[in-house]
Amino acid sequence: MEEYSEFFNYIKKAADEIHNWIHNDEIIRITTHLDADGLSAGGIISQALYREGGKFHLRIIRQLEKSFINELVDEKRKNYIFLDMGSGQIDYLKEYLIDTKVIILDHHKPMNENKTPFIHVNPHLFGINGVTEISGAGIVYFVAKALNEQNIDLANLAIVGGIGDRQDKGKYYSLSGLNDLIIKDGSNAGILKVERDLRFFGKESRPIHLSLKYTTEPFIPGISGNEENCIRLLMAAGIKPKEDKKWRTISDLSQDEKVKLNSEIVKFALKKGLDRKEALNLIGTSYNFLDQEKGSVLRDAREFSSLLNACGRMSKGGLGVSICMGDADSFKEALKSLTEYRKKIAEYLNWFQEQDVLKEKKAIYHFHGGNKIIDKMIGTITSIVTSSNLIKSDKPLIGIAYIKDAENMSKISARGFPELIEKGLDLGEALRETIKNLEIEGEAGGHNIAAGGQIPTNLEEKFLETLDTIIEKQISNKNRNL
Ligand code: C5P
Ligand code: C5P
Ligand code: ZN
Repeated sequence: MEEYSEFFNYIKKAADEIHNWIHNDEIIRITTHLDADGLSAGGIISQALYREGGKFHLRIIRQLEKSFINELVDEKRKNYIFLDMGSGQIDYLKEYLIDTKVIILDHHKPMNENKTPFIHVNPHLFGINGVTEISGAGIVYFVAKALNEQNIDLANLAIVGGIGDRQDKGKYYSLSGLNDLIIKDGSNAGILKVERDLRFFGKESRPIHLSLKYTTEPFIPGISGNEENCIRLLMAAGIKPKEDKKWRTISDLSQDEKVKLNSEIVKFALKKGLDRKEALNLIGTSYNFLDQEKGSVLRDAREFSSLLNACGRMSKGGLGVSICMGDADSFKEALKSLTEYRKKIAEYLNWFQEQDVLKEKKAIYHFHGGNKIIDKMIGTITSIVTSSNLIKSDKPLIGIAYIKDAENMSKISARGFPELIEKGLDLGEALRETIKNLEIEGEAGGHNIAAGGQIPTNLEEKFLETLDTIIEKQISNKNRNL
């Protein structure tokens, strides 16, 4: 705890400021990101403010772009909180929102570490790794807890944020660092149970064969997206899919049955050419939310996070925040988006495999979503392709898609691997530098391992070439310095 004391002092400062705003009856303008981390962050702050009697408005956006900041200026409000965003846009916020009160609760690497007139809570400023140790929702959780100790019951939402941002990089896909403190809170509050289990999607809520079908991490050729083979596999493992006419779920299986299922899948996966290490990688850490009903999507952190991503990526971010606030109707409606989203993911991944879309340069892999993958889904697919070992881990992957509502602009999503980060890869820096060097109209930012941006469509090739050179340099420079 000692190592984190300065960070927590600053968290307290942010909470005190929010407390003052509520006390002064100020209306707070909150802006958050549309992914699972952003939406759970939005859910946590909304619950915390609501409980204190605060007045607020929440907006969910794709990215904190300059055009959006200009919109905020026009609204002429006085109090702003930015969640899971803002650290990369400090200069711009400073320029345009200087006469207002701003709190930034973010874990993206700050653009520069100059003093700001704002309350800027960011783990990187305290020597804490914001990529793997704490998510945006995690930071917001700590602020909520500093506002009122009772908000400890929101710990599970912070775990959803960490899982959504793929911070489960510890042993057996577990969360670590500051996230551990949140796990302790959840466990102490009796709302969280951490277990080692099969890493399948929908363990709580889906019939076993559908769980297998919808599992895309790892992507198991012949299983992911293929219902018939999933049923065959269950038969081969001698597992009854139903009990008393009711579909069984993975969470209903006995330990013995889980072992049988696991070994049957490993056998199948190896036959289909899946890497042995990945095939054996089917065991993970599951975070079970005891405050949710058994059998519900919301009982499992990975499913919960997928549901939120589905809402955000299907343009229903508001539903996502309502779910985090416990709204049952929103939950029912969102389930439809989840099914649609999982179907789309499986379809896109099969397309990725079958269409030979992957291209390669010296230091990057890249692919174009073309007319198939829309801008809001390209990040998800680029993430899954890298994390389910559909490509080798020797170069980062850049996904590109046309932006639906911005003519002639393309969306970039870049994803790396931990071993490349150790070699010096920083995708956020690389994307920014490319745009700066080419002096093109565009915006970019993000973490070392996951970053994004947008550029003019007609400059895609030039962009990739420059990016390739910059990434090659990042990796070779670090190696030279070792
Ligand atoms: O804006 P934010 O930090 O919440 O988003 C990070 C994004 O990067 C998430 O969509 C997450 O899934 C993705 N990511 C990834 N691989 C990592 C880390 C993050 O795909 N190793
Ligand atoms: O959009 P995508 O999922 O690819 O974004 C990956 C990461 O890069 C996220 O953390 C996102 O917030 C960040 N990003 C950013 N600035 C942009 C685009 C993406 O900071 N212009
Ligand atoms: Zn985040």
